[in-house]
Amino acid sequence: MPRILDVGCGPSKYPGAIGVDVNPNTAADVLCDLDRGRLPFRDDSFDEVRAVHLIEHVENAIATIEEFHRVARSGGTIFIVTPHYTDIASYTDPTHRRHLSSESFHYFYPGGKHGQESWYTHARLRERRLDVKLLRVWRLLGFELLVNHARWFRRFWEQYLSFVIRGKVMEFTFEVMK
Ligand SMILES: C[S@@+](CC[C@H](N)C(=O)[O-])C[C@H]1O[C@@H](n2cnc3c(N)ncnc32)[C@H](O)[C@@H]1O
Repeated sequence: MPRILDVGCGPSKYPGAIGVDVNPNTAADVLCDLDRGRLPFRDDSFDEVRAVHLIEHVENAIATIEEFHRVARSGGTIFIVTPHYTDIASYTDPTHRRHLSSESFHYFYPGGKHGQESWYTHARLRERRLDVKLLRVWRLLGFELLVNHARWFRRFWEQYLSFVIRGKVMEFTFEVMK
């Protein structure tokens, strides 16, 4: 059985996972405030760490992902779902602290965002998969396919088109590199 951690699990914890949340009125098995300390688990404890609609809420996104990286094993998976910065929902929830793009996690990639290994962090992730969901009308017109299947088009879309052809959520699957 894979060992799965669902951080910020809310009321609907991922099946088979250990749930962590700051709020006791959730399905959490372990209460922990990521803004106040580390996850109460040893290094390399999990095959998969999931954070669905969590990263936009925490005070320090870099430190939080470093914690995911620490508790996941080398070669394990970190799965993150978060709103695209052009989704109105990204701005509607007053507890959202940041608005992210498809490149916000490039700071964790080998070489780093600026070609420097430790611009913000030493934790390293490899992008296994990224699915960007668009509003329904743009999906039906085929833009979602283009955004997900041509990296150059995704960049062009975010630079020039995305406040008209708006995004919804991004689903990142990362491989943990240690
Ligand atoms: C938008 S909800 C998402 C819940 C669930 N993952 C889902 O997709 O239905 C965000 C969750 O993250 C939790 N959360 C927010 N800040 C947190 C923190 N600093 N430490 C731990 N959990 C936090 C909240 O209590 C809430 O349950």
